[in-house]
Amino acid sequence: MSFRATTYVEDVSPGRGALAPRARYASSDAKSLSLNGSWRFRLSPTADAEDDSFATEGYDPEGWASVTVPGHWVLQGDGAFGAPIYTNHLYPFPVDPPHVPTENPTGDHLRRFDLPGDWPADGGATIRFDGVESCARVWLNGTELGEFKGSRLPHEFAVGPLLRRAGNVLAVRVHQWSAGSYLEDQDQWWLPGIFRDVTLLHRPAGAVGDFFVHSGYDHGTGTGTLRVDSETGGRVTVPELGLDLATGEAVTVPVEPWTAETPRLYDGVLATAGERVPLRIGFRTVRLEDGLIKVNGRAVLFKGVNRHEWHPERGRALDPATMREDVLLMKRHNLNAVRTSHYPPHPDFLDLCDELGLWVIDECDLETHGFTEQGWRDNPVDDERWTPALLDRAARMVERDKNHPSVLFWSLGNEAGTGRGLTAMAEWIRGRDPDRLVHYEGDWNCRDTDVYARMYAFHDEVERIGRGLDGGTRRRRELPFIQCEYAHAMGNGPGGLAEYQELFERYERLQGGFVWEWIDHGIRHPELGHAYGGDFGEELHDGNFVCDGLLFPDRTPSPGLVEYKKVLEPVRFEGDGADGTVRVVNRYDFADLSGLALEWSYQVDGETVASGALSSPRPAPGDAADVKLPEPPAGAPGGEAQWTLRAVLAEDTAWAPKGHEVAWAQLPVTGRVRPAAATGATPALRDRVVRLGPGSFDARTGALLDIGGVPVNGLRLDVWRAPTDNDEGAEWQPDARYGKLWRELGLHRMRHRLDAVETDGGALTVRTRVAPAAREVGLGTVYRWTSDGERLRLTVSVTPEGDWTVPLPRLGVRFGLAEADTVRWFGGGPGEAYPDSRSASRLGHWRSTVDALQTPYVRPQENGARADVRWAELGGLRIEGDPEFWFGARRWTSEQLDAAGHATDLTPGDTVWVTLDHALHGLGSQSCGPGPLPRYILWASPAEFTFVFSTTR
Ligand code: GAL
Repeated sequence: MSFRATTYVEDVSPGRGALAPRARYASSDAKSLSLNGSWRFRLSPTADAEDDSFATEGYDPEGWASVTVPGHWVLQGDGAFGAPIYTNHLYPFPVDPPHVPTENPTGDHLRRFDLPGDWPADGGATIRFDGVESCARVWLNGTELGEFKGSRLPHEFAVGPLLRRAGNVLAVRVHQWSAGSYLEDQDQWWLPGIFRDVTLLHRPAGAVGDFFVHSGYDHGTGTGTLRVDSETGGRVTVPELGLDLATGEAVTVPVEPWTAETPRLYDGVLATAGERVPLRIGFRTVRLEDGLIKVNGRAVLFKGVNRHEWHPERGRALDPATMREDVLLMKRHNLNAVRTSHYPPHPDFLDLCDELGLWVIDECDLETHGFTEQGWRDNPVDDERWTPALLDRAARMVERDKNHPSVLFWSLGNEAGTGRGLTAMAEWIRGRDPDRLVHYEGDWNCRDTDVYARMYAFHDEVERIGRGLDGGTRRRRELPFIQCEYAHAMGNGPGGLAEYQELFERYERLQGGFVWEWIDHGIRHPELGHAYGGDFGEELHDGNFVCDGLLFPDRTPSPGLVEYKKVLEPVRFEGDGADGTVRVVNRYDFADLSGLALEWSYQVDGETVASGALSSPRPAPGDAADVKLPEPPAGAPGGEAQWTLRAVLAEDTAWAPKGHEVAWAQLPVTGRVRPAAATGATPALRDRVVRLGPGSFDARTGALLDIGGVPVNGLRLDVWRAPTDNDEGAEWQPDARYGKLWRELGLHRMRHRLDAVETDGGALTVRTRVAPAAREVGLGTVYRWTSDGERLRLTVSVTPEGDWTVPLPRLGVRFGLAEADTVRWFGGGPGEAYPDSRSASRLGHWRSTVDALQTPYVRPQENGARADVRWAELGGLRIEGDPEFWFGARRWTSEQLDAAGHATDLTPGDTVWVTLDHALHGLGSQSCGPGPLPRYILWASPAEFTFVFSTTR
């Protein structure tokens, strides 16, 4: 047996045989043939288990299975081809670079193809692989073409002389592990396979080779300067601008600039003797100037997100519709920027960013995070033997993507420590493309970067940075700041977005951030709903840390995304509803408000009584204009009144239809009318039951039995919630992790001791003490019931006893109803809200089902609260709150929710559990970031709150 065949797998070099990287483009006239589709497939457990005779001419793959390309074999074959592995930063193999385990799943792939009838006889051809994880060796018709690493980067091979009219066989051997795996330790599933397109490209004689479109914008003169450098020469035409020029020649003409807000593209053509290539030219200039990132002369604020490529069934093999959906969803949620964490995306994604308008940080496929476990010793990025591989990765990214106006930054990679290899990459990039900026987070001294980037800095530190009080090297002090990752969107959360945004807007140096991350990487699973780390029996894994996105795996926006949209609104309405004037603030960086229509409506007790259009002012970016509100509608009923103001798209755009809501606000006019007192009736005892108005109670325990014939089960004080991922916090967090503290204190197993049941005067009073076993702290809790005969009023008084050093998850009551389906309420909605994530909750009349109140976090946890509820109706009961309360209802208890690992562990019981909360603890984002800000921590303190119950039947 020979190990010859595997040496390249453990070789630190980037590979052998591939053509030099070049710009990615779709030819107008050269033929191409997609080799996507069904490929024959054979899986071996090791890199050299089978010889490579499968690549020789005439090999018969009899008995081989099939896989779809693009795809990952571990997500195909119903488990027959191994399984995905999820780790955050730990390498799932021993760290001994560049060596990889003997167990190295190796997929041999075969694809037969004939040339189409019209394939030209002359010229050459190449085969391009857009992405293969992690290492591939390639043969065509028995001749070896070479081998490569760099999973999310393109590799192209010249194949012209080897091609035949019919019966071509492309053979590709793919190894899951290689030296390249050490450079690809991103926090995601390890998913081997040919996961992006494979294409045969005709290269006519005199075809276009590599080219570089330079198209800067001078905001002083309003002109763009175009120069296209081309290794094969040619002419460039831009009909709309009347341009016809030679490559290498520069011309300056008046143009409309490209920005993410106004993504103006000009169509052009690059023509050589043999080929015509369409160009989409956007004129824009990005510069570091006065310590700020400026585009076309103006500082920009990034409202960004980190996007991994993800599809719940196909992994990182994304189809065009999914990519478009991502961009549309981003635009519709007021995002203006994306960091392609942590590798260059499928190239089509960048076309969409150009077309629809998003600022892009294009990140190289480089992460060596696992070396942090050994204090970064032997880190490949500081070992010059690896530098050629790093430079190859930088070049493959820059060359492929350099013609996209959307790309403002080249990012060297993610979490790779520091080292000479990174400096070499930065130097090469600056030499090749001096017109863009360089990003990298891992070096806080900013040696190689044009921006001080950090991840998960807490609010107070961000503020210090904003004020320039954070110190650091001279280089760093001169740089603007972005949070390339913040607001970890794992499970319920993140909390604290509005407070971050406020800082970004207040301090010039802070140029915004990118929420971590776009989508949960849950894998669709027949028994579990969506699988996460550990669900495939991995030896090492990081659980549901892979589900930390603003979208659920099926791309349904989570409440976190709805909140982020609200916080990012490019239009603000400020003012006092009673005063009759509203200030409209344009928070775009470039656009005026001409694309928007402004609308007003007037609500009384949540019902709209009048609405109309608001005269549209035209404040310039950064400016504001005052607009007069109409007179409040005459004859409107009395009650709680407010204005709702909305900015919607005035016309259809490329990313959303006319009428799409971009921003809104509510301005109160008159306050709430509080529920009337309910007293007068007196408790009466009969047959061991106390009757008080519509309520009946167990005379011995004081337990509520029913209200007007609606059975009510187990009404009592409730402080427990199924901890969220942000409550649990990450193990490495230095600060208090509330989920853990709550369990240690025993808040999930509170005992309710009955001290007294008293009927005196007009009230039934039940005195209790609620406390966990083994602890001396407790909550003295008094339930005081009164009635006016029709309605039943409960006042709960809570007095903490002992030394409470741990906050409460919630403070309210819960009870069970036998039947409830539809829920109506007047309060915040339509979606869930929590104290530090409630910007998107709008006051109105809402209706839902109990099932639809639930938010389907991949790992079940506390969810579904509605804020500011004045009254709610369900199951035949109407509940009014004084003050307003947080409402929730679910078909399982908090304890069942807590015990569930996946959505499919939750099965509805025969009771609907209702929670009426006086207060909730905030969410924070401690799963990777700060806990709730101090003002959102629910400390135990004396509290009193009231609910008034009546029946609706
Ligand atoms: C960052 C990292 C991301 C992800 C995130 C936590 O440190 O760059 O890839 O792991 O933390 O979800």
